[in-house]
This record gives sequence, C-alpha cells and structure tokens, in this order.
Amino acid sequence: MNVLVTGANGQLGQALRAASKSFTNHRFVFTDVVSSGDDEVIYLDITLIDAIRTIAKSEKIDVIVNCAAYTNVDKAETDIETAQLLNSDAVHNIATVAKEKDVTLIHISTDFVYNGSKAAPYVETDEKNPVNVYATTKYSGEKQIFASGCKYILFRTAWLFSKYGNNFMKTMIRLTGERDTLNVVYDQVGTPTYAPELANIILKVIDENKLDLVGEYNFTCEGSVSWYDFAVMINYLSGHHCDIRPCNSEEYGSKVKRPSFSVLDKSKVKKTFGVTIPHWFVSLESCMKQL
Ligand SMILES: NC(=O)c1ccc[n+]([C@@H]2O[C@H](COP(=O)([O-])OP(=O)(O)OC[C@H]3O[C@@H](n4cnc5c(N)ncnc54)[C@H](OP(=O)(O)O)[C@@H]3O)[C@@H](O)[C@H]2O)c1
Repeated sequence: MNVLVTGANGQLGQALRAASKSFTNHRFVFTDVVSSGDDEVIYLDITLIDAIRTIAKSEKIDVIVNCAAYTNVDKAETDIETAQLLNSDAVHNIATVAKEKDVTLIHISTDFVYNGSKAAPYVETDEKNPVNVYATTKYSGEKQIFASGCKYILFRTAWLFSKYGNNFMKTMIRLTGERDTLNVVYDQVGTPTYAPELANIILKVIDENKLDLVGEYNFTCEGSVSWYDFAVMINYLSGHHCDIRPCNSEEYGSKVKRPSFSVLDKSKVKKTFGVTIPHWFVSLESCMKQL
C-alpha cells in the first residue's frame, strides 16, 4: 500500500517512521512542514488542500495517516486561530481528499474531548464536552471527518511519551536531574501512552488491511495514574533523588483547564483489532532503558 503520513517530524510521526522500517511491503510517503535533508520527509502543508490533492494523486496514495496537529495545549488558549486552522480546518482538507480518492483516513484525537467528570473509564460513545481550546479544536476536527463522509479510523489517545520530540517524560527526566524539589499535580488522572505502541497499531491496521473497520477507537496504554505518580516513577527510574511534591491544579497555577479524569476504556480497540496493550509502567521502563 502507498501510505501518506503527515506531521512525520512530530512525536508520533517519528515513532511511525522508525516502526515502518519493518514494513518494507508498503511504501511510505512521510511529509511535514519541514523537509529532511535526506528526502525521508518531504514538504506538505496540510492547510493547503490542493497540495494534499496533488501528492495523493502523484503518489497513488491508498491510505492517509494524519499525525500533524497543533499540540501545545497552553499556547492554544491564546493562539486560537492557528489551533483551529491545524486541528480542524486542515483536517477538513485531508478528509475531503480522502473522500474524493475513496481512501481511509487514520486520524489521531485526544482524551481531552471528554470533560473528565465521569467516574469510570470513557467509552467511545460517551458525550464529548471539551474544556479547553486545544480540545475544542480537536473535537471540531473529529466532526469535520464525520461530516466529510470519508472512511476513517479515529484513534483517541493520551499523554504520549517516547524518546522523540517533547513530552512529559523527557521534561521530568531533565527537571528531576536539575532540581531538588518539584511540584506536580495529583488531581489529573489519565494514562500515559508509549508513542511506538500507537504507531504499531496504526501499522497493523494498514498491514492487515483492516481499513474498512471504520469508527472511533480509544487507544492508550493500560492502567491509570496521576501526573504526580507518573513523575515519581520517572524520577525513580532515572535514579534521580528529586523531592516530588503533590499539588492540586489550583496550587500549580495553570490557567488552562484540563480534565481531572480522562482514562479511556480500550475494550473496543482490543476486540476489533485483536491487540494486547502493555501497562504504561512496563512501556515507561522499557523506553527509559533505551535512552
Ligand atoms: N502528545 C500528546 O501527548 C498527545 C495526546 C493526545 C493526543 N495527541 C494527538 O496525537 C497526534 C500526534 O501528536 P504528536 O505529539 O506526535 O504531535 P507533535 O509532536 O506536535 O507533531 C505534530 C507535527 O505536525 C507538524 N505540523 C504543524 N503544522 C503543520 C502543517 N501546516 N502541515 C503539516 N504538518 C504540520 C508539526 O510541525 P512543527 O513542530 O514544525 O509545527 C509537527 O511536526 C496529534 O493529533 C495530537 O493531537 C497527542
């Protein structure tokens, strides 16, 4: 299959590039707004629909994986237009091309589309009620896909970590090495997700040609944890001795509202695609060993 990947320089994009090396039976066209010198990543701006049309046609694309997004949750609060452009308008562009070419769009959304007030893991059909700008634009992107009529597989994921890009794990490794004490919030609970695990299921769906299994699927690692507990484990596995102190979101002083509980139920994805998913701690330990 010919696979178009957008946002290939991002965290998930890089994980996909690495994992795709084991799938030589498919041809991957990796794209982003910054191309790489070695031509592994070529230029494609997803805000330009004609550019997506052109590449989809010239490369005879069979499936599109959209890893591009505006992911800075704090910055989105003030940079609303750009967040909307990338997370919704550009998604409309990609979905439109997917519909025109009758190819499946594999898209990534977020646990933040839920408001966090449920006391049990969220299932795909639960009400979406985003509480911040980033999440609102991501939910708007989801609706663009549903309205386009294209075939889609939508994975909602959370708290990505890996050796690639910027993420909480890497920030905590650095900060716990630099500081004696650190305050981390304990009143936001979710599930860290190892980006290569998400890359693996995307590649499995493509490789096993399960692209007609259209729908929304939650995908995170197993388990649940607060940011505080996650930081404590990162500190521990780093061999650092930072004194990590739990604080609540109000004490932490973030101006951006985040769901207090965004654990996702993965029954549907496991049953549909026959996957087993590791616990976040097992993935964290294995990731940190590789660093
Ligand atoms: N990271 C998380 O914890 C998390 C949690 C839940 C859901 N998700 C979702 O998972 C997906 C992947 O996230 P990620 O962490 O891998 O994101 P990321 O690291 O921020 O990567 C996004 C990529 O998209 C690129 N991009 C920006 N504008 C573009 C444009 N106009 N055209 C094409 N590419 C453009 C970015 O380039 P620049 O960096 O140069 O702007 C970047 O390389 C996203 O949909 C995100 O919403 C992520």
